[in-house]
Amino acid sequence: MGSTSEKRCFKLTSCNSNASNQDLHAYGIMLIAATTTLLLIIYNCSDQVLNTRERRLAKTREAAARSARDTAKARQRWKTAKDAAKKHASGLQTHFSQTFSFKKSAKHPEELKILDQTSCETDEDLYAPTHISSSSESLSSSAPSRGKPMEPGNLMRMMHEIEDDPGNYEGFDVNTHDRKSKGHKPKGKQPNTHSQIFKYAYAQLEKEKALQEENKNLTFSGVISMATNPEIRKRPLIEVSFKDLTLTLKGKGKHLLRCVTGKIKPGRITAVMGPSGAGKTTFISALAGKAIGCKMTGLILINGKNESIRSYRKIIGYVPQDDIVHGNLTVEENLRFNAKCRLPAHLSKPDTVLVVERVIESLGLQMVRNSLVGTVEKRGISGGQRKRVNVGLEMVMEPSLLILDEPTSGLDSASSQLLLRALRHEALEGVNICMVLHQPSYALFQMFDDLVLLAKGGLTVYHGSAKKAEEYFAGLGIHVPERVNPPDHFIDILEGIVTPSATSGVNHKELPVRWMLHNGYPVPPDLQQSFAQLAMPSAGAGPANGTNPVHAGMEEKSFAGELWQDVRSNVELQRDSIHHNFLKFKDLSCRRTPGVLWQYRYFLGRVGKQRMREAKIQATDYLILLLAGACLGTLAKTSDENFGAVGYTYTIIAVSLLCKIAALRSFSLDKLQYWRESASGMSSLAYFLAKDTIDHFNTVIKPVVYLSMFFFFTNPRSSFAENYIVLLCLVYCVTGIAYALAIFFQPGPAQLWSVLLPVVLTLVATQKQDGEVLKKISNLCYPKWALEAFVIANAERQREASRLKNFIKKISHRVDIKT
Ligand SMILES: Nc1ncnc2c1ncn2[C@@H]1O[C@H](COP(=O)(O)OP(=O)(O)O)[C@@H](O)[C@H]1O
Ligand SMILES: [Mg+2]
Repeated sequence: MGSTSEKRCFKLTSCNSNASNQDLHAYGIMLIAATTTLLLIIYNCSDQVLNTRERRLAKTREAAARSARDTAKARQRWKTAKDAAKKHASGLQTHFSQTFSFKKSAKHPEELKILDQTSCETDEDLYAPTHISSSSESLSSSAPSRGKPMEPGNLMRMMHEIEDDPGNYEGFDVNTHDRKSKGHKPKGKQPNTHSQIFKYAYAQLEKEKALQEENKNLTFSGVISMATNPEIRKRPLIEVSFKDLTLTLKGKGKHLLRCVTGKIKPGRITAVMGPSGAGKTTFISALAGKAIGCKMTGLILINGKNESIRSYRKIIGYVPQDDIVHGNLTVEENLRFNAKCRLPAHLSKPDTVLVVERVIESLGLQMVRNSLVGTVEKRGISGGQRKRVNVGLEMVMEPSLLILDEPTSGLDSASSQLLLRALRHEALEGVNICMVLHQPSYALFQMFDDLVLLAKGGLTVYHGSAKKAEEYFAGLGIHVPERVNPPDHFIDILEGIVTPSATSGVNHKELPVRWMLHNGYPVPPDLQQSFAQLAMPSAGAGPANGTNPVHAGMEEKSFAGELWQDVRSNVELQRDSIHHNFLKFKDLSCRRTPGVLWQYRYFLGRVGKQRMREAKIQATDYLILLLAGACLGTLAKTSDENFGAVGYTYTIIAVSLLCKIAALRSFSLDKLQYWRESASGMSSLAYFLAKDTIDHFNTVIKPVVYLSMFFFFTNPRSSFAENYIVLLCLVYCVTGIAYALAIFFQPGPAQLWSVLLPVVLTLVATQKQDGEVLKKISNLCYPKWALEAFVIANAERQREASRLKNFIKKISHRVDIKT
C-alpha cells in the first residue's frame, strides 16, 4: 500500500483512475471497523468470559461439597452403627463364651435396627462418587448385603477387617485426616479434574470437622495432648525471644521501644495491647524484621539462636494493618494465588486447594468467595470481609509465626470471634501467633494465652499469661472494678484517663519501672531518675511535664538544626528501605517454594485475569488512541518537502504520552501489593516478567489502533508495515521508560515526568543542532530516532517514486519519438 504506486486496484472497489486513494480508504474503513468491533467485544465480553468460567467452577465445587457432606453423614451413621455393632458383638462374644453356642444368642432389636438401617444407607452413600472409590468397593464386598440377616461371625470378621486394614476404610476414619491432608494421599488415583480435586478437598474438610466435633468433648489435658501431638503439629516451630529490645528513630534519636524483654511461644496466641501510639506496631514490625528507619539494640533470638528473622520469612506471615489485597481479584483468587506461590513446591494441587478451602471455611468467607474484593472506587465485599481476606492471605501459606496488626479492628464481635477461633485452630498446629488488638471484648480477651502490655514510649508494663495479668496488677494495688473489662481498665490507666485507686499509691508512669523491678531487669538510668522523682511526694514538677532527659536537648535546636535532622532521617529511611528491600538473607526456613518459572506462570494467570477485568480501561485507551490518530491525521498533511515530518512529530508526542501514561498503571497501581508479596519471598522477576509479557499485547496492538486512523487520513508515501514497525519500536521504548518511572517514583511525580519527557525530548530532538553538545544530547532522545525512521521511510518511497516517474517519462518520450 502507500501512495507510491501509480496504478492500484485491489478489486475492492471499482478502480477509478481519478481516485487513486479510493481503494486505500476502503481498506482503512475496513480496518477501523474491525478495530472498533474488536474494542466492542473486549469492552463487553471480557468480564463475561471470566464470569462464565467461574460459574462453571462454582457448580463443580458445590456438587463436590454436596457429595462430601453426604459422605460425611454416611460416615457418621456408619460410625454410630460400628460402635453399636462392636458393643453388641462384644456382648455376644461374652455371651458365646458363656454358652458356647451361636444359636442361643438373642438380637437386641434396637441395635439391629441401627445396624441394619445404617449398613444399607451407608452402602448407598458409599457409592456416592468420591475419588476414594476403592474404599467403598472394598466395603461393599465385606459389608452384609441389604436385608440379609447379619451373622455374628460375619460381623466380627468385618470388624476385625476394619481394625486390621483401616486404610481400606479411609473414607470413614476421621483420624487419618492429617496424614493425607499434608500431601500423603493414598497411592493410586490422583485427583486431576476440578471435580475430583474439590471432592478430595471437601471430603478432607468434612473429616476435619468430624474430628473437631470429637475434640470438643475433650478435656483440657486432651486438648493439650492434641496440640503436642506430632501428627497434628506439622509445621516447624518458631519461638522468638527478645531481650532489651530498644528501637530508636534514626536521625531524631527518639525512642520508639525501650528495653522490651520477653518471649512469644509456638502454639500460643499473644495479644499486644497498649494505648494509641505506644509502639505496638513498632514492636511487631521489629519482631518481623520490618522496622525501617530505626536503630535496633538488644537481641532477638529465633529458637534460641541469634539469627536474622528475615531468614525465616518464607514461614512467617505478617498481616499489615491496612488491607493490602488485590481489589480486582475475587476472594478465592487472592487466596489461591498466595497459596500457590508460598506453599511448599512439592505440595500437590489438591492439597493446595484443600488449604485454601480450609481457610475460606475457617474465616467464614464461603458466601463471598467469588465476589471481587473491590477497591475504594469500585465497591466489592464489606470492610470486615476484606479484613478477613487480608488475614487469610497469610493463613493460606501455613506459617509457623503469624504476626497480625489489628486484625480485629473494624470487625463486629461475631466476626472477631470467628477470626480468633480460626487463629486458635492454627495455634493448635503449633503456630506462634502474635497480634495487636484494640479494645477486645471480654470473651475475645479470654481466647488469648499471653499478653504484652505496652505503655507510651514503648515500655513494657506487663508480659506474661493473659490470665495472670489481673493478679499482677492486683499485686500493685490496681484492681479491676466490677463490670469493667480488664484490658480496657489497664489501657485506661496507661492512657491516664483512669487513675489507679488512691490507696494503691501507684502512678501510671511508674508501671514500666515496676515491671522491670518485679522481674529483676536492669532499669536504665533516666528511668531510674524519673522513678525516684515520682516516688517523691513533690513529684509534680519534674516528670509530670513528660520530658524525657534524652530528648531535653532537642527542643533547643535551631530551625536549621531541625531541618538538617529531618533531611538526615529521611536519607536514613531511604537507605534502610533500599537495604530492607534488596538485601538478600540466607534462607533458613527449610521451605522450598515454587521457582521463578512456576511463579511466572502463576503471575501470568493473575495478571491476565486482572487485565481482562480492566478491559474497559484498556478499551478507553484504544478509543483515545483512535481519536488521536484521527485528529492528528486530519491536521497533518503529508507534503513532499518535509516528508510528513510535522505529522510524525505530532504522532511521536501523542503516542508517547498516551502509551506512557497507560504503561504507568502497570507498576504504580499495585505497588503496595507488590511490596507485601516481595517481602514474603515472592519473586520480583516473575512479577515483572508476567506484567511485561501481558503488556506486550498492548505494545503490538496500540500501533495498529493508532495507524488505523492516522495512516488512512494522512496517506503517507511509506507503507503501513513500515509505519507500524517504527511505531512498534516507539511504543516498546516508551513503555520501558514508563516502567522505570513507575518503579522509581511515586504515582504523582511519575505521571508528571511521563507528560514532560515526550514533549521536552521531542523539542530537543527537532531543534537545529549547531553545537556538538546539543547533538550528543539529541542523540540520546528517542523521538529523534523515531522521526528519522519515519522520514527516511517516506523519502525512500519518494525516491523510488521519482525514479519510476523518470522511467515512465523516458519510456513515453521514446514511444512518442517512435510514433
Ligand atoms: N518512622 C517513624 N517516624 C516517626 N515516628 C514514628 C515512626 N514510626 C513510629 N513512630 C512514632 O512511634 C510511636 C509509636 O508508633 P506505633 O508503633 O505505630 O504506635 P501504635 O502503638 O499505635 O501502633 C508513634 O508516636 C509514632 O508517631
Ligand atoms: Mg499501630
